[in-house]
Amino acid sequence: MEIDANTRAIGESHSKLILLGEHAVVYGKPAIAMPFPLKVRCIVEETIGHVMLNSIVYTGVVDHMPREMQGIAACMKETLNYLGKPLENLSISIDSCIPLGRGLGSSAAVAIAMVRALFAFYGKELSKEELFSLVQISETYAHGNPSGIDMVSEASDCPVWFEKGKEVLPLKSTAPLFIAVADTGRMADTRTAVDNVKKRYAANPEKVEQSLEKIDHMANKAKAALLKGDIQCLGELLNDNQQELMKLGVSDEGLNGLVQRALKAGALGAKLTGGGMGGCMLALGKNMEHAKLIAKELREYGASNSWYFSTDSDMLYGVYE
Ligand code: MEV
Repeated sequence: MEIDANTRAIGESHSKLILLGEHAVVYGKPAIAMPFPLKVRCIVEETIGHVMLNSIVYTGVVDHMPREMQGIAACMKETLNYLGKPLENLSISIDSCIPLGRGLGSSAAVAIAMVRALFAFYGKELSKEELFSLVQISETYAHGNPSGIDMVSEASDCPVWFEKGKEVLPLKSTAPLFIAVADTGRMADTRTAVDNVKKRYAANPEKVEQSLEKIDHMANKAKAALLKGDIQCLGELLNDNQQELMKLGVSDEGLNGLVQRALKAGALGAKLTGGGMGGCMLALGKNMEHAKLIAKELREYGASNSWYFSTDSDMLYGVYE
């Protein structure tokens, strides 16, 4: 057997949060997203025979991967094809802390980690353009018509200003953000949520366009607030964004309940994050202690999981009770 690779390579990525602008971003409006320090690691090793995948969802030969992993399978095949390597003699292990289907971008994060690991395994440099075009294959399976914001924010180490088809701008807040995140415990079907907004748009274009315009305006104000470190103003914009997401029909009772509970705990603002219709919400705290308190109250209220962190550190804390 010809060996022209390292015998083991590792690729990593992290999760993401959309601070403001999800759904509107699919229609070309701006959005702000940031890294969320839940990590995924992919290990590629040399073996003999069929490509084997080891993951929490599926362990076995690549050809029999389940339907929900077809995007990853397609991305893997295309990456190997791009590298000019055969689909054999590899063992690919995925170890992810990102809960699946919760609007935290697990599909893009897994694809990023895998593409990075495969390139590293074959000792090839990977450009951002190559990474994004390969990961987009998997994202198209997962979301149908992805804006690309998930993979861009997951490949970034700082918050980003994202507009479909335009240059991505790093967006450093002048003040750290203290964020609590809570999981409804229900799978968020981003593809269905995106399709529902599309149907709403077709049925009532003026009304939906009005919401999208408002979100566009909010994103611009949020960018200015971040650059000024005006966290109070940012919180109000998160609340306004949640109102528009409710009008677009992508929030639900579980998410609304968690949002209300966070506000009751004194959050400066709270909203769903990601596709909605299940999945996660986020809340802005005044400081780390406050973010911790909000995360704790959200867990007591019924969130299946909650976390808190600050954007000036890579540390993520969970509430385990
Ligand atoms: C999903 O994380 C964000 C959405 O705006 C879809 C997308 O941008 O592809 C709902």
